[in-house]
Amino acid sequence: MILPIVAYGDPVLRKKAKPITKDYPELETLIENMHETMYGAFGVGLAAPQIGLPIRLFLVDTSPFAEDESFSEEEQEALSSFKRVFINAQIIEEEGDEWAFNEGCLSIPDVREDVFRQPKIKIEYQDENFDTHVEEFDGLIARVIQHEYDHIEGILFTDKLSSFKKRLIKGKLSNISKGKIKIDYRMRFPAQKKKR
Ligand code: NI
Repeated sequence: MILPIVAYGDPVLRKKAKPITKDYPELETLIENMHETMYGAFGVGLAAPQIGLPIRLFLVDTSPFAEDESFSEEEQEALSSFKRVFINAQIIEEEGDEWAFNEGCLSIPDVREDVFRQPKIKIEYQDENFDTHVEEFDGLIARVIQHEYDHIEGILFTDKLSSFKKRLIKGKLSNISKGKIKIDYRMRFPAQKKKR
């Protein structure tokens, strides 16, 4: 089932998300629905707060980037098969010189800006079977994880822009929160919340 994606301006996107346990109700269905929602919107990642749940769960599938020839063949190969569910993730370390990449977000349609992030991360998380992993990632895979991880910390990529850039997109963000935007996937806007 495709779930509506929560738009910029909804307070759920600003909450620090809570850890979950194995017995979280209908977790398997939730993960399935989140995958369907992410693919339906052509996203490479989706975090639970984006479908209205302030829990520490996000998905990443970088395969759409595999066709992008601005990456090395080796990186394209890695991107093509990277699909993961992250539960209760904690970034333990981030390192390296920050690099810029043009990011977007399904909760903030039509806004794309260069965001600076460190290239390497070490992260502890549980997979969909609640097995714990500690892994290191770099490059674009790390970046997508960082973006989704920010969501479960209540942070959006637009927070990371210069105050000049923030001023430039202020009107756009306000329109998004009011639902004054054309989108081709299901969204839920803060103003409509009470009617549901
Ligand atoms: Ni996002």
